[in-house]
Amino acid sequence: MPLKENPDDTLDELMHTKARIEELPDDDDDEDLANEDNDDIGFSGPPFPGRHLTTSKHALPPWLQIATINLIHNDLTTATSESQQNVTAECLPLLLGKDTQGLELNSRGIPRLRRQKHAEFLHGTLGNLPAPYQVVDASRPWLFYWALAGLSFLGEDVSQYRERLIETVRPLKNLTGGFGGGHGQLSHCACSYATLLALAAVGGLDCVDRKQMWHWLGSIKQADGGFRMATGAEEDIRGAYCAMTIITLLNLPLALPPGAPARSSGLETFTDKLGAWVGSCQTYEGGIAAAPGNEAHGAYAFCALACLSILDAPQKSIPKYLDVQALLSCLAGLQTSPEGGFAGRTNKLVDACYSHWVGGCWALVEAALSGGDSAKDTTMDATTPELWSREGLTRYLLCCGQQPGKKGGMRDKPSARPDGYHTCYSLAGLSAAQNRYRYITERETIDHASGRLMAAFNWEAEKVVGKTMVFDEQDRVEFVHPVFVLPMHAVERAKAQFESATLV
Ligand code: FPP
Ligand code: ZN
Repeated sequence: MPLKENPDDTLDELMHTKARIEELPDDDDDEDLANEDNDDIGFSGPPFPGRHLTTSKHALPPWLQIATINLIHNDLTTATSESQQNVTAECLPLLLGKDTQGLELNSRGIPRLRRQKHAEFLHGTLGNLPAPYQVVDASRPWLFYWALAGLSFLGEDVSQYRERLIETVRPLKNLTGGFGGGHGQLSHCACSYATLLALAAVGGLDCVDRKQMWHWLGSIKQADGGFRMATGAEEDIRGAYCAMTIITLLNLPLALPPGAPARSSGLETFTDKLGAWVGSCQTYEGGIAAAPGNEAHGAYAFCALACLSILDAPQKSIPKYLDVQALLSCLAGLQTSPEGGFAGRTNKLVDACYSHWVGGCWALVEAALSGGDSAKDTTMDATTPELWSREGLTRYLLCCGQQPGKKGGMRDKPSARPDGYHTCYSLAGLSAAQNRYRYITERETIDHASGRLMAAFNWEAEKVVGKTMVFDEQDRVEFVHPVFVLPMHAVERAKAQFESATLV
């Protein structure tokens, strides 16, 4: 639902009828730089016993979809509804332009992107960190990825960090393959993914031992098709996406290594049973859970869609394994009003990091819905009806997501402090709102010489223009790869680098 030209009208309408049910946020009062929202990358979806349906197609009557439920206002006051009201109250003056926080405004009266300040903030997160940062010692590669990816989304040249990054991640590498989160730590799928992406951003992937990585990934592939996050750790959808990203960027063989435990259950490749396992994570809400039977979360929807978009062309693989209409309905319900950003799950609060985790789903969903009709895609412009409000997200990020003052950086919501995680994913989400990504159906989905899965390399981007684009051209963020969440050129470089690579 695009906001009206005069935001006052739409926002007032929404405000006067609004009393939604939300849950209490965490009361996190950390030091400035120690405010990395590390829980966001953790696995915290609680089990939801007895409520799981693998297909929700006929679970709800047509008029009672998740997006519809979002419009129902309940007059009952609860802790959850009060939290929501508090968030709306802190965002509304910024959205309405009543409080511009001293930010420079664009030609539409909306804050400009603080490009320079956000870049300075991200450079700062690559320097020495204060003591409270020891709590993220097991996630060090994420700090590198958020900063380097965020900087490159701003158009900064990050190649200056190449040598430093290679030296910094060297001690995180285990001889059994993969990267841990800190010195002496076990290899972990999420940390290996973040390391790989950070290295890809600076052009440093040549330091990775591909053969060791292949063996290690073989040790976490499961008999049911999914991946564990580490040896003996939880199996979840992050593992499926992270592992397939690593395999594809590095052009590792799809065949499981000889000693891989899943071989003893009859599996032969990393992709065996994977699509069906991803499909089994779809819940009664239509969204995607970390693992079968858990609560749906927008971040896991991105992992599922991106994983399937690696396996094959999205218009084939996504409808094959997911109920796309149910997922679409669930995702649409996550765009909050009047804030305009996304919540991570039903009845929860807007948070700028979901600008990517949910905002990034749309390119993949749109490709899934295009049915391979690329001509239909190319006719889309700013007047074509959208599945989501690009304008709403842009307004949320520019008005509510930017830290004012001398510090810069982007934040979950106005009452939160900025951090690298929210800055990176806010910028990725802003790119999703400002630009359009098209899957090129004419290209091969497999490289017949090496066997490499090629679907994820078949994307092109274009700028969305038109009057609903409420930012000035100089505030447009770089194109962000819709599957690998890297600048497009970094993905092209990795694609070329390992084109004919063999394992030695
Ligand atoms: C809930 O946190 C958050 C989750 C259950 C999932 C978080 C997962 C990610 C952000 C992505 C992980 C992906 C990879 C590739 C590692 P919360 O209860 O604090 O937040 P909420 O109220 O917004 O749901
Ligand atoms: Zn967040």
